[in-house]
Amino acid sequence: MKTFQVLFVLLLTAAATDGQSFHIGNCPQPSVQEDFNVTKYMGTWYEIEKLPAVFEKGKCSQATYSLLPDGTVSVHNAEILSNGKINSIQGVGKVENASQPAILSVGFFKGVPDAPYWVLSTDYHSYALVYSCADYFRLFHVDFAWILARTRELSQDVIGQLHDKLTAAGVNVNRLIVSNQTGCDALEQ
Ligand SMILES: *[C@@H]1O[C@H](CO)[C@@H](O)[C@H](O)[C@H]1NC(C)=O
Ligand SMILES: *[C@@H]1O[C@H](CO)[C@@H](O)[C@H](O)[C@H]1NC(C)=O
Ligand SMILES: *[C@@H]1O[C@H](CO)[C@@H](O)[C@H](O)[C@H]1NC(C)=O
Repeated sequence: MKTFQVLFVLLLTAAATDGQSFHIGNCPQPSVQEDFNVTKYMGTWYEIEKLPAVFEKGKCSQATYSLLPDGTVSVHNAEILSNGKINSIQGVGKVENASQPAILSVGFFKGVPDAPYWVLSTDYHSYALVYSCADYFRLFHVDFAWILARTRELSQDVIGQLHDKLTAAGVNVNRLIVSNQTGCDALEQ
């Protein structure tokens, strides 16, 4: 490997020890939601559980999606930081291939590659299971997953079913972290 690749691997290893999800080999290719309808998926989703992501540090994490006139999706993520301040970020999502509508990509920063956003399962009105995985040099991959809900809590039955889907996708559900969705008044309008 070239020096910069070694550096990159070291950086990612550091990221892994900081809580990200780093694995040898290529990304799994889980099945996604059939006949996904992005219009029905719009609106606000609350984070119930997630695989660790260093870029999310607060509580009460939520995402609000809305369709833009050009067919792309406006993404607005918000959370409450430990100091009580609201942290929010704006991005754009899009379906890359109309024949695979449940596979989106989301970008937050100019010049930074878009992140994959795969909707593995959703009923649109209560739960959604989202998976994101990126391959590096065909050597290893880093993945993220989110269990989302239309309200700040979700039944253990549904959570259990979504865990089963993640397990089938090759994700170790023991790595999931439960999100804190209490004391979120600052984000309610
Ligand atoms: C997607 O959902 C919207 C809103 O419910 C509906 O109007 C539209 O017909 C659906 N599209 C398809 C392809 O089913
Ligand atoms: C879109 O997806 C279909 C079905 O998986 C595939 O056959 C086609 O090559 C894809 N198109 C592009 C532009 O990637
Ligand atoms: C969640 O946040 C609330 C309010 O800030 C706090 O009182 C509670 O201890 C937190 N719960 C956990 C499990 O961290």
